[in-house]
Amino acid sequence: MRLINDKKTPQTMAIKIDIITLFPDMFKGPFDMSMLWKARDKGLAQIMTHDLRDYGLGTRKTVDDTPYGGGDGMLLKPEPVVAAIEAIKGGGNARVVVLTPAGRKFDQALARELATADQLVLVAGHYEGFDERIMSYVDEQISIGDYVLTGGELPAMVVVDAVVRLIPGVLGGEASAHDESFSDPNLLEYPHYTRPVEFRGERVPEVLQNGNHAAIEKWRREQSEAKTAKYRPDLLDS
Ligand code: ADE
Repeated sequence: MRLINDKKTPQTMAIKIDIITLFPDMFKGPFDMSMLWKARDKGLAQIMTHDLRDYGLGTRKTVDDTPYGGGDGMLLKPEPVVAAIEAIKGGGNARVVVLTPAGRKFDQALARELATADQLVLVAGHYEGFDERIMSYVDEQISIGDYVLTGGELPAMVVVDAVVRLIPGVLGGEASAHDESFSDPNLLEYPHYTRPVEFRGERVPEVLQNGNHAAIEKWRREQSEAKTAKYRPDLLDS
């Protein structure tokens, strides 16, 4: 099993992420830039997209069909989706995840959990959804929030970004991923400042300028608590 960067368990193995989608081109921009590109370049994340159409049925490579019982829209057929999962899923600690608004709500704790896998197979659906029988081949259904998008591609990108940045070596400082909002799931992050010391009449708080680390820690904690109480009181209740 691969472990992630809590400070007690340093390790260096990469994660493999495979995304099954009808729209592989949607991933080109986001995955070729910034942190995700760096993670791939350093060999810390191997991310591949797979065109579901390649697993389609017959000469027309059919992937969708009308729903039994009637209703609007088309459903993704089970055969192509399951064939893709079975072709792509490797051995070891692989997790197969379907992105769907009906899934478990994605959060930092789930990101950390997924980051321990050797391989993530993410299935992004389109049309009105999937034939329910694919769920027997899936470990987890995940929603990125209580709203409905046109497909699972954007949610898959969100999950990949949140997971990959937890892989040791992907972020600059190993502590970065650790200190942030939601690493303590009940507190938002404290405010940050950089130069100049004064911007349009607003000054950097004195305490951050004097180098007293204990005082800075105390101020940050208080700020985190105050910010959480103001913007996300629901986190303090939980
Ligand atoms: N597909 C469509 N909407 C979604 C959502 N909110 N989360 C995950 N997958 C989705």
